[in-house]
Amino acid sequence: MSTCTCKTTDNWEQVEAAAKLVLGEKIVALIAECRRDPHSESRLISVLHKVQAQYGYLSDTHLDAVAQLLQVPAAKVAGVAGFYHFFRLKPRGKFMINVCLGTACYVKGADRIAQKLMEELGIQWGETSKDGVFTLEASRCLGTCGLAPVVMINNDVHGDVTADQVPSILEKYIKKAKAGE
Ligand code: FES
Repeated sequence: MSTCTCKTTDNWEQVEAAAKLVLGEKIVALIAECRRDPHSESRLISVLHKVQAQYGYLSDTHLDAVAQLLQVPAAKVAGVAGFYHFFRLKPRGKFMINVCLGTACYVKGADRIAQKLMEELGIQWGETSKDGVFTLEASRCLGTCGLAPVVMINNDVHGDVTADQVPSILEKYIKKAKAGE
């Protein structure tokens, strides 16, 4: 593990200024603090969490900026981001749809709901609709088995959902997106 805290780039101020445009001042300041840690590479995951929390996902540009500032090889940063399932490498929609595929929901037709969502939105698991409104993900038990089958959309819990209800549920959120809510 590298313990080098040297700045290998001559125009470091320019590098930091450019990184601020990509990552924002707070994250650049956090990385500067991490760089002073003799084991700065071990802070990589927490830095990536911060970037994702702020921007919703990790773009190639984000990853390159983190690699440069943290002085870690870009391939390593990309490798870490790609390895852990909790990092998203694509932008997520305004509304995150989580279909529960836990046992209680599955036996009550969660797979049919998922199929209908995929048909309506034209996307598969982990993808975002072309209009950027919805991202579709699967979850294990959401803890509301009494309402099975359950679909969460952002923080809203939809219980006893049927495949036939899917279009009207989506419509409600499309209206919200259009209204800027
Ligand atoms: S199995 Fe779906 S909420 Fe528990």
